[in-house]
Amino acid sequence: MNQSLSQRCHAYVSEHFAREDETLRYVRQQTAARGLPQISLEPNEAKLLHLLVRLCGAARVVEVGTLAGYSGICIARALPDDGQLITIEVSSLHAEVARAHFEYAGLADKVTVLQGAGVDVLPKLAADAPYDFMFIDADKGNYHNYLAWAADHLRIGGVVMADNAFWGGGIFDPKSDDDHAMVAFNLSLAEHPRFDSTIIEVGDGIAVGVKTC
Ligand SMILES: C[S@@+](CC[C@H](N)C(=O)[O-])C[C@H]1O[C@@H](n2cnc3c(N)ncnc32)[C@H](O)[C@@H]1O
Repeated sequence: MNQSLSQRCHAYVSEHFAREDETLRYVRQQTAARGLPQISLEPNEAKLLHLLVRLCGAARVVEVGTLAGYSGICIARALPDDGQLITIEVSSLHAEVARAHFEYAGLADKVTVLQGAGVDVLPKLAADAPYDFMFIDADKGNYHNYLAWAADHLRIGGVVMADNAFWGGGIFDPKSDDDHAMVAFNLSLAEHPRFDSTIIEVGDGIAVGVKTC
């Protein structure tokens, strides 16, 4: 597909399937207004996340990398009434802003924000495994650790999803540590004996794997 057709297709999907509602627009505006990095998922990526959570019937979800709660709102909206999202965020400011946004979205009863580094917090969640879905969107250098955690703590049929699989193209000519980390993560997922996986060409690349054994 040529680039202009691909851009038209992207715009078409955005317009008809992934339009932001008032709450998501507010969260995006507040993310900028509070001086947080404007690196929340794009609407098309967020809609895919929402749909995958719903498709796999997930009720118990873990996210690493909350930021201001944009992706968390899209996850929580796909959960059943008794569903729960646990989302982990290293920055106390981001965690505080996200909690306010989950309140604003009317989802505070479904979402727990745990402040801390993913590698420190995840072991504390192990006792309540298995989980149905894990979304990884934080420090690239630990993506391999998050994948290992998903392999051990998702149910069979559970889904791991990770943003930035293409890392802005850095995977094709890796130079930085993060470039190399994403190359290693992608190849590890592709070859993983416990996941059936691919990368969906949306946004910066969404890696998705279903746990098979
Ligand atoms: C790309 S943003 C997440 C965007 C969010 N998922 C969304 O789409 O709305 C990455 C977030 O991960 C957080 N983060 C970075 N390193 C982390 C770590 N080791 N553990 C947990 N969170 C981390 C950052 O502070 C930042 O808020």
